[in-house]
Amino acid sequence: MNAAKTRYRTLVFPAVNQAAEEYVAAARARGEETICAASVERGEIAGARGDLHWLPPVYDDGFSENFLSLVAAHSIGRLFCPVASVHDFMARFLDAHHPAIELVGQSPIRQQVEQHHRLMARARRLLPLVAHCADPAPSLSLLEVAGLLRQASQIYGESNDDKLAAMMGILASAPPGDVIEIGTLMGRSAFVLLYLAWRYRIGPVLTVDPWMADNAVQRRSPQALQALVDEWDFEVMSEGFFVNMIPLRANDHSHLRLPSEEAFALYAKDSARTYSADSKIAYSGQIAAIHIDGNHDYDLVWKDCQLWLGKMLPGSWLILDDYVWAHGDGPYRVGNDLLLEQGERIARAFVCGKALFVQWQH
Ligand SMILES: C[S@@+](CC[C@H](N)C(=O)[O-])C[C@H]1O[C@@H](n2cnc3c(N)ncnc32)[C@H](O)[C@@H]1O
Repeated sequence: MNAAKTRYRTLVFPAVNQAAEEYVAAARARGEETICAASVERGEIAGARGDLHWLPPVYDDGFSENFLSLVAAHSIGRLFCPVASVHDFMARFLDAHHPAIELVGQSPIRQQVEQHHRLMARARRLLPLVAHCADPAPSLSLLEVAGLLRQASQIYGESNDDKLAAMMGILASAPPGDVIEIGTLMGRSAFVLLYLAWRYRIGPVLTVDPWMADNAVQRRSPQALQALVDEWDFEVMSEGFFVNMIPLRANDHSHLRLPSEEAFALYAKDSARTYSADSKIAYSGQIAAIHIDGNHDYDLVWKDCQLWLGKMLPGSWLILDDYVWAHGDGPYRVGNDLLLEQGERIARAFVCGKALFVQWQH
């Protein structure tokens, strides 16, 4: 973009959908001025804010005149068009009537096609890793890997593609039993675990996270990391988690909003109890797979392992998150202690996506 164009505003037309809203929010955050227009009296998006300009539908006779006068009155230099048919129309219209206006980005259809190609390329890259981790058990199809990646990517979280792919593979060989996650945040890895527990017929899922600032602070990490806790609204984190789980939520998942230690006390006392009023989930009290991803301070990771690993079934899996971590060495030291102390009970261990994966002997 040349320097002169940056002085111009961007017209968002038609400002009637989520893509328009997201464009306006991102543009404002980067200091780009926008104005919104639509051919409806009250645009669902911009109309709600009261700054919506009306334009006739693009096929009406008066469209050209109205559009060009809006452009002139508001120094429009760019046009963002989030509706495929209008984008297509406007590309030809601008060529013919106002080539100086830049049409931002590709058409929504082209974007979908390319987004899908990128997703499938990610899934194709990961499929051999999934199969390798599952070996000799059969694992997921390309479509399943792509579907899980796509949904997991929509969920704010801290588990990367490689770690999720390794999870998708190893759970193929987990014995029947409970699947546990300590530390959910908004549910990126929980979503994947919930799908896999159902897909491989492993057993019910129990997730644990207190969603409280006191627990989230990692006192052995740099101050800058500790301060991030203040940015969170923990009620949003909690509500967001349940929203994210809804598409997969059946009668096979419950959540304990408690610190790991208190959750373990309940689980150990009576694993078959009903943890939430609306579910009747019979946990076996024996763990088929556990993802330990709570507070990463050494003493807390150590305690998580001390408590929960006593319930591991033969052939079960531990995923110890952030074994490789830039902000501290809690999981690394605990992982190493574990490998040393439990060496004889361990069948397989490897690091992938920064996490340590350990399988107990059968
Ligand atoms: C790194 S995040 C989890 C990331 C998540 N598994 C993902 O894939 O996006 C760590 C989470 O651990 C939770 N946490 C902190 N202390 C905890 C504790 N004592 N017991 C359980 N969860 C804890 C925090 O609230 C936070 O949501």
